[in-house]
Parts: sequence; structure tokens; C-alpha cells
Amino acid sequence: MERLGTDAQNPPRVLIIYYSFSGQTSGLLNHLSIGLRQQGVEVALEKIRPLNPPRFPVGAILPTIKMMLTTFGRQRLSIRDPDGTNRADYNLLILAGPTWSYNPSGPVLDLIDRFGSRLFGGQTVLPLISCRGYWRLHWLGLKRLLIACGAVVPNKIIFSHPAPEPWRTLGVFLKIAGRAPERSLLIGRYYKRFGHSKEQLAEAERLGSLIGTALIKNQSLAELELQSLIALP
Ligand SMILES: Cc1cc2nc3c(=O)[nH]c(=O)nc-3n(C[C@H](O)[C@H](O)[C@H](O)COP(=O)(O)O)c2cc1C
Repeated sequence: MERLGTDAQNPPRVLIIYYSFSGQTSGLLNHLSIGLRQQGVEVALEKIRPLNPPRFPVGAILPTIKMMLTTFGRQRLSIRDPDGTNRADYNLLILAGPTWSYNPSGPVLDLIDRFGSRLFGGQTVLPLISCRGYWRLHWLGLKRLLIACGAVVPNKIIFSHPAPEPWRTLGVFLKIAGRAPERSLLIGRYYKRFGHSKEQLAEAERLGSLIGTALIKNQSLAELELQSLIALP
């Protein structure tokens, strides 16, 4: 059961803990936060900071292939210790980040490994996943890890890049490698932009409002439709 514990006297409080490598998750969160705040929810953001942050773009093809392979093995990326904020002061935690090779990203895995029980135990945690389209294994694995920490995970927010395959996969790879596939004569015909669309950012705002309204009314988040309706594969 969720323990949202909101009451009529105090506005609900949401803490968003996130990692973003190429800016897509942060973009969605900016808009999700607007929607939450519009409903009167207090929102705080906490960035997950790797000790040695990987650079975006990676800059070349071979290191990008290497990154894809190491992340496939769920390599942890060590992060700075989270600060002493009392997460129990929040009605809801949102844990947000990208999919890396069908898994949560290395910084999120390190956060859960080393601090998961302390941060998430006894809390209601709503994951937000930003990906190019292949989020299901990530979601199942993340849910399992959070539940093992003692969290209640009522639902998920999912955003996929709205571009057709195989251009979406090729486009993400080239973008990470430091190229501009949207400007290429061949690929640019089918791949117009990297990442999430303006319509999806507006949708993130709408979902923020939806979650905010549920929190204000102390309603369960389990029944809300929180997947992006734009370009589900
Ligand atoms: C190393 C790496 C591996 C990735 N693997 C996947 C994947 O398995 N499935 C997927 O849908 N997207 C994958 N992506 C794409 C990202 O999930 C996607 O671009 C996301 O929007 C990035 O969010 P961010 O900018 O907040 O980091 C991968 C990206 C990187 C850098």
C-alpha cells in the first residue's frame, strides 16, 4: 500500500532524485515539476552526481561502443554521497533517469546499491524512465531493486523517443558519439531530432498535474495512466 500521507493543512511534498546524461530526463523533469507546482505541490530536485561524470557527447565511435558494452553488464558508476536531507519529510519520491543497455544507468544503480534502503525504505517511490524505446527490462529490474529496499512502487512514468526505427537507434548512437544525425543527408530524412519532442514535454507537464491532483486528493497513484501516449513502440 502507498503511504502518501497527505493532509488538507499542508501541501504535498515531492522530492525528485535524478540522473541525466544527455539532458533528456532533466528536460522532462522541468516540465513535470511545472505541472506538479501548478497543483500546489512543493517540489525539490536532487541530482545524482557521479564522482567522474561521463562526458556527453562521448566524442567518438569506439568509446561509445565501449560505453554500450560496459553498461550492458550493469557496471556501477560511483556517485558522491547524497546529502543529509530527510527524505521521510516527503510524501512522494520520484526516481528518474535514462535506460542504459536495458538497465537503469550506472549512477542510479550505485545509488540504490549503497544508499537504497536508507533513502527509499518505507517510502512511496515513482520511477520515471527516459529511453529511446526499450524500457521494460529496466522497469522490471528497477521495481525489484526498489521493493527489496523496502519501497512501495505504485506505478511508473515512461517516455520513449518518438522516432521510427531503425533511425531512432542509429540516431541515439551517433548523437552519443558526437555526430549530428539529424543534419545528415541520408539519416536526416527520417530522423528529425534527438530525444523527446516538444509535445512530450507538454505531456510531462500534464502528467505532473495529474500526479499533483492525486496527491492533493490523497488518491492512489496506481490507477493513473502515466506512460507517454506519444509514439509508444
Ligand atoms: C550507454 C547508453 C545505453 C543506452 N541504452 C538504451 C537502451 O537499452 N534502451 C533504450 O531505449 N535507450 C537506451 N539509451 C538511450 C537513452 O536511454 C535515451 O537517450 C534517454 O532519453 C537519455 O536520457 P538522459 O539524456 O537523461 O540521459 C542508451 C543511452 C546510453 C548513453
